[in-house]
Amino acid sequence: MPGLPMLEKFVRDLRAIWATQPDNQSRMQAARPLLERLLADPELKAHSAQWPSTEGRKYLLLYVDPDYHFAITAVVRAPGRVGSVHDHADAWVLYGILDGSERLERYDRLDDGEKPGHAELRLSSITIGTQGKVDLVPPRAVHAEQGGPARSVAIIVRSQRLGEGTVLQHTYDPVEQTVVERYGPTQVPFELIR
Ligand SMILES: [Fe+2]
Repeated sequence: MPGLPMLEKFVRDLRAIWATQPDNQSRMQAARPLLERLLADPELKAHSAQWPSTEGRKYLLLYVDPDYHFAITAVVRAPGRVGSVHDHADAWVLYGILDGSERLERYDRLDDGEKPGHAELRLSSITIGTQGKVDLVPPRAVHAEQGGPARSVAIIVRSQRLGEGTVLQHTYDPVEQTVVERYGPTQVPFELIR
């Protein structure tokens, strides 16, 4: 089965950005409008209606670049899904909504991080993301993505592969004021890009 042409073009365009921009921040800023355009594609949205759910701490791994190591993944959330408060360690992430809506929360860290396992957070902003909305999440930014009233699909570009067996990220409990280190979700290969 051939891959999806709009995704394969997206990969070629990303590779050109990674080849010409000097650092991950400028790469992600340049990639943002490309992801916004990709998310507006009605054919891709229609195709995503058949993508499997990623409930149970999984995500779909669409692509890892062999030279530049950026990764393209997708999540398919059930209605009303509650997401964890977390960061992405050193990775830069572009998080874009393809279908449905999600609540994108950002948190400020209030304590100095000196006490192991302890973290005090304050919710600083809530953005409702619908099709075409892209959130640029810098390294160590504390945030959560919450499911909306309907099934939602997101496409995510990361500066490096994250998930089980890669790098440790932080997961926070804002009510209990705790923080733990753990790996991100399990990566499920999903071949849409050849
Ligand atoms: Fe995230």
